[in-house]
Parts: sequence; C-alpha cells; structure tokens
Amino acid sequence: MQLLWPTTPADAVTDADLERLYGYPEDLTRPWVQVNFVSSADGAAAVNELSEGLSHPADKRVFLMGRLLSDVILVGAGTARAEGYRGARINAERTARRVALGLSEVPPIAVVTRSGELDPAGPLFTDTKVPPIVITTEKAPRAELERAGADVLVAGTDDVDLGHALELLGKRGLRRIDCEGGPMLFGDLIAADLVDQLCLTVAPLLAGAGARRIAHGRPTPDPRRMDLASVLFEDGFTMLRYRRREGG
Ligand SMILES: NC(=O)c1ccc[n+]([C@@H]2O[C@H](COP(=O)([O-])OP(=O)(O)OC[C@H]3O[C@@H](n4cnc5c(N)ncnc54)[C@H](OP(=O)(O)O)[C@@H]3O)[C@@H](O)[C@H]2O)c1
Repeated sequence: MQLLWPTTPADAVTDADLERLYGYPEDLTRPWVQVNFVSSADGAAAVNELSEGLSHPADKRVFLMGRLLSDVILVGAGTARAEGYRGARINAERTARRVALGLSEVPPIAVVTRSGELDPAGPLFTDTKVPPIVITTEKAPRAELERAGADVLVAGTDDVDLGHALELLGKRGLRRIDCEGGPMLFGDLIAADLVDQLCLTVAPLLAGAGARRIAHGRPTPDPRRMDLASVLFEDGFTMLRYRRREGG
C-alpha cells in the first residue's frame, strides 16, 4: 500500500505538469479516447441534472487541459442538451499553445445522437468558431442540421456504431478524442471497449439517491482492468486518472 497524498506542497502542480500527465500518446495511429467525469463521493454524476454542482476550480483545470490537448470534444446528445453546449471557447494563450503543439486553433464539438434531436438555432450551431460535428444514424433527420452548418457523419442504421464513429473521426485526422460524457455514451463506450483513459474527479459530497452514476445503459459483461496513472488532490477533491491496461 502507498500513501499518495499528501506528498507535494500545495499548488505545486504547474500547467506544464498537467500537460505532461494528461498528454495523449505520441504518434497515434488510431483514435484514442479519454473520458472526463466528476462524481460525488456517493457516485452521483449530477446535481439537479447538471455536473456544475459537483465541480471545483481544480476539476475545471483538468477538464480544460483535456480540451486544450484534444483534436475533438466528443459528447452525448443528452449532455449537449442538458448543459446547453456551444462551441469550445479557447483563450488566446491556449490557442497559441494548441498551435505550438500542432493542433487546430479550436477543437470542434462532436455530438453523438440517435434521434438527431438537436436545435439548429441553439448555441451548438450559432455560438461556435468551428462547425460542430453530428454523429448519427441513417434513420435520423439530418437536412436541417446540415443546413445549420453541421458536419454530419453517419455511423449506423438504427444506432450509432461507436467504433465506426471513431474511425470516421480518425479519417478526418481527429485522433485525440476528449469525451465529456455523459453516462449513456460512457456506458456504450465501455461496452464497446473503446475507453483508453478515464479522468475522474471525486467530489467530497454526498449527493444522495436519484442521480445517475457516471456509466448508464448498456451493460458490460466483463469489467475492463485499468491502471491508476496519477492522483491529484486539492481542497478535498481527488482527480484520478486511469489508463487502459494494454493486453488486460
Ligand atoms: N458528472 C459529469 O461529469 C457529467 C458529465 C456529462 C454529463 N453529465 C450529466 O449527465 C446527464 C445526461 O445524461 P445522459 O446519459 O442523457 O447523457 P449522454 O450520454 O450525454 O446522452 C445520451 C444521449 O446521447 C445519445 N447517445 C449516447 N450514446 C449513443 C449511441 N451509442 N448511439 C446513438 N446515440 C447515442 C442519444 O441521443 P438522442 O437522445 O439524441 O438519440 C442518447 O439519448 C446530464 O444531467 C449531465 O449534466 C454529468
């Protein structure tokens, strides 16, 4: 057994440290999926239907680092609707850092939806510097979303085949995939064995019964073994990073 905290003086973790810890593997030849979540200590993924009530500036720092280092931000339509998603906002300093790292100035938001029920007049389409990507099915209505400027990818007939969706993103050169949930999309990604890294913040809160846990929906027959890769701590919040165990 090891003591992971306290080990370093408070505020010792710099942005450069975070970039090193949360950086994607170099020379990726396939899409690589990092998933971000914050949970209460009793396992809730939301308070009053939003994740905001569970978060903390330290968690936000890690969350923004995920955005900073990614080619694309992947999110389920339930989260995009509940949280009122709009295009990513990257300040000038972070934009310069992205360009220095060889990334585009702003990562697009890619929304996974079976129904295609996204508001073409909403901020996802109107308040963004780059067109959103909508990943959907052959059966979903798409003309209005395309007219609103979305780059629509079809990855399945009734359901989105997430493996195929990642391939389509990869073909566009979008391999560093930063998934921001939500629970249903995460459940499907786990079931399809597509999760390479989980960045999980545990908030020192008891949210009580009612809210979903961070994975929901499709069951997974066999748990996937992950390795604990790093643990950060601030103000009672623990930021855990778990990586897929290769061959595990
Ligand atoms: N604590 C956290 O860190 C965190 C993070 C994210 C979200 N949340 C919370 O989670 C809640 C939303 O939960 P949710 O489970 O509804 O979120 P979700 O996974 O973002 O959305 C579910 C929806 O995404 C689409 N979808 C997901 N997987 C799909 C697949 N394989 N194929 C096709 N479509 C797929 C479907 O959209 P359609 O309905 O359009 O077909 C589905 O109804 C919100 O309260 C949000 O605040 C918390």
